[in-house]
Amino acid sequence: MSKVTISAPGKLMLFGEHAVVYGYPCIVTAVNRYITIEVEKTKADYDILQTPGVSDKSFVRSAIELFRKKFKTEGSISLTSQSELGNYGLGSSAAVTVATIEALSRLYEVKLVPVELFKLCYQVILSVQGKASGFDVAAAIYGRTLYFDGQNKKSTLLYPKSLPIITIFSGKKGETVKMINKVEELRSKFPDRITGIFEKIRHLVEQARLALNESNWSSLGKLMNSNHQLLVELGVSNSSLNRLVMETNKAGAFGAKLSGAGGGDCVIVLYPQDKKEAIIEAIEKTGKEIINLKTGAKGIRPHPRIT
Ligand code: PMV
Repeated sequence: MSKVTISAPGKLMLFGEHAVVYGYPCIVTAVNRYITIEVEKTKADYDILQTPGVSDKSFVRSAIELFRKKFKTEGSISLTSQSELGNYGLGSSAAVTVATIEALSRLYEVKLVPVELFKLCYQVILSVQGKASGFDVAAAIYGRTLYFDGQNKKSTLLYPKSLPIITIFSGKKGETVKMINKVEELRSKFPDRITGIFEKIRHLVEQARLALNESNWSSLGKLMNSNHQLLVELGVSNSSLNRLVMETNKAGAFGAKLSGAGGGDCVIVLYPQDKKEAIIEAIEKTGKEIINLKTGAKGIRPHPRIT
């Protein structure tokens, strides 16, 4: 194959962040914003990497290195990326890793089934980030809305359509590694308390799974609020995330929560159709940006060439 182009979607964590790192389940949805990677072989004796919009290039480098080591491929490559994910914490590290490995596997005609692709990409994420659950890798590969088991890394498809969710950027980049380390430290100091919080999160995730299956939005919204409170207890929220959760609830949301590791990034708001306008007005008053996206998007796929 002479040139390969692959797109992988970003994600939003719906329920279960942090606990999932310790083997608990979570619910994640893929969003309709993608990172596209184009690769081809080059005669140069070095790789040519052009990755605008990818803030941390370590994931691409590490993905190429692991692929070469595992499949003993030779020669240099030229790789170009294009990102629609911005700097909102929508899972660009996982999406870029998944798209890079899949593109290389097609370029070198190495057949990888999704489970093998997951394993390789998860290895890359762990090598760069240290601690991670792999939920974002699953979302980038399979797409849709998934129940992800942090223990055995299995994904189960849940609600098939886009959810009535508004996504707000808090104005600050999230702090994935810092927050993971903070929770780890708390867990080693207060193991019973933190395990107690993780167990409550597990319970919420199981209830949310049922609520999603029944499209029971009012129940799902309450679960989001409860999950947010548990994240506050874990010490990963901040005043601007809390304010967005509070203001959108006041304006009539079913519920809201921070999404992801915390310390910044996004708040997701589940809304009743008749309250959408009021909620948007309340968000506009806070001066924060609404990110226009749909959930339950398709997973990894070939893509028309980058122009
Ligand atoms: O900050 P994000 O969006 O990468 O989300 C991290 C979610 C964690 O559970 C804290 C980490 C993980 O890998 O599951």
